[in-house]
Amino acid sequence: MKKSALCLTITALSTLLLSSTAFAEPHPGKVLHEDNNCLKCHVDKPYNPQKTDTYPKLIKSVRFCNDNLGIGLFDDEIEELADYLNNTYYQHDK
Ligand code: HEC
Repeated sequence: MKKSALCLTITALSTLLLSSTAFAEPHPGKVLHEDNNCLKCHVDKPYNPQKTDTYPKLIKSVRFCNDNLGIGLFDDEIEELADYLNNTYYQHDK
């Protein structure tokens, strides 16, 4: 194999490896969402973008559930969760 071809192969392989690990990494907020049983209630109570109609309200709602249910998330986790819910359900501008 020519040296340049080998170089290309290595570049292609490492790109593939890097992008596939990036792809396999779930959103941290998705993990929090699953680990904290949010869906236990929110399957029956779907997230409603008309009701929670801005991103700051979404942060408040996540904090509301966290505080009232004693879930015990940290502030940065609340933001990650809100970001995940926003990507998945709300699609509000930030
Ligand atoms: C014990 C049941 C319960 C659990 C568990 C729960 N919630 Fe809630 N959540 C509620 C209720 C009740 C409301 C108020 C809904 C309403 O007023 O219609 C609400 C409202 C919300 C809203 C606003 C809903 C909307 O329509 O826009 C968000 C966002 C939310 N919760 C996120 C979460 C997250 C994130 C978790 C997990 C950390 C969580 N909730 C866990 C019961 C729950």
